[in-house]
Amino acid sequence: MVNRQWVLAARPEGPVKHSDFRLIETPLRPLADGEFRIRTRYLGVAAVMRGYMLNAEKFERPLAIGDVMHGRGVGEVVESRNPAWAVGDIVQGKLGWQDYAIADGSDYFLMFKVRQRRVPISTALGVLGLTGFTSYLGLVDVGAVKAGDHVLVSGAAGGVGSNVGQIARNLGASAVGIAGSAEKCRLLTENLGYRAAIDYRLGPIDMRLAELMPEGIDVFFDNVGGEILDAGLAQLRRHARVVLCGAISQYIDGIERPRPLNNAFAIFKKMARMEAFFIYEMSEHFERAEAQMAEWITEGKLIYQEDILDGLEQMPEALIRLFEGRNLGKQLVHVS
Ligand SMILES: NC(=O)c1ccc[n+]([C@@H]2O[C@H](COP(=O)([O-])OP(=O)(O)OC[C@H]3O[C@@H](n4cnc5c(N)ncnc54)[C@H](OP(=O)(O)O)[C@@H]3O)[C@@H](O)[C@H]2O)c1
Repeated sequence: MVNRQWVLAARPEGPVKHSDFRLIETPLRPLADGEFRIRTRYLGVAAVMRGYMLNAEKFERPLAIGDVMHGRGVGEVVESRNPAWAVGDIVQGKLGWQDYAIADGSDYFLMFKVRQRRVPISTALGVLGLTGFTSYLGLVDVGAVKAGDHVLVSGAAGGVGSNVGQIARNLGASAVGIAGSAEKCRLLTENLGYRAAIDYRLGPIDMRLAELMPEGIDVFFDNVGGEILDAGLAQLRRHARVVLCGAISQYIDGIERPRPLNNAFAIFKKMARMEAFFIYEMSEHFERAEAQMAEWITEGKLIYQEDILDGLEQMPEALIRLFEGRNLGKQLVHVS
């Protein structure tokens, strides 16, 4: 029995490339006491993985060249020497980019059993996993959204953003989404709960934003940073909340050449609050987020958008798609 594993071949310079990764095969090793083996079913990708490749994310174990790429996945326990984790359990946690992972139930793996529901297990990586919790807790807890609010969401057709418009709508707010193509914008308004959408690739969005949100923005859920963040700040309403969820437009060269925030004065002028958050620090709220998201799915009030590639060999491609805006919804890879 061999394990196919994607290892780090080179640290990315500029955008992530296929040659930054290498696929190897290693024999499966026997388990030690306390360990269990998981066969990967699905893996997710996230923009933060470029940071893992550079060892720029201090909350993750450093990666040396030749190490298996970090990543969360969902899989089935196929062998166990740990009484708390039984063969047949479906679990989600840090599996890494590989066919088989070994875990020991310690905190590092952030491993949970996946409750069996009438939804595919892939949702444990998307709408009913950290991605969905980021959408829900970012908007509700950090953004303090309330009925009647006007909400702006950037990266609106991605994994996180594809839920945020629907959550806003379900709570009586109305959302405008920003995304990078006509097809994505159509999806936002037809399926994903957004009242209106703006294609930022057509040019600066300031005018369009002022037209679509003349009353201003109560909550700005920003996944993108840079120019789009500035444009949103210019349109804030009194006591607005700016939720800094991500800044994907800055991840490649914003670290060496940080882009100044031009409209920071607007935060003061509008007595607004701007707050970043990190979902791993909000674990005491996951159950509440999951219960609400699952209820909405059952009631038909939340549809989830997944973009699934087939085969472990697609992992680098899946990650590259995020930075090129080629994914629609949560980017996953079906492994087995
Ligand atoms: N705070 C937290 O704890 C937390 C947790 C999870 C994720 N995040 C962050 O949330 C954001 C969304 O994550 P996700 O996993 O759901 O990814 P995603 O939105 O599914 O994928 C990234 C999307 O970002 C857009 N994008 C890429 N480069 C861009 C650029 N230069 N300018 C504007 N848009 C760009 C692309 O869509 P377009 O076609 O629309 O450009 C792409 O589809 C990321 O910034 C991520 O780092 C934060």
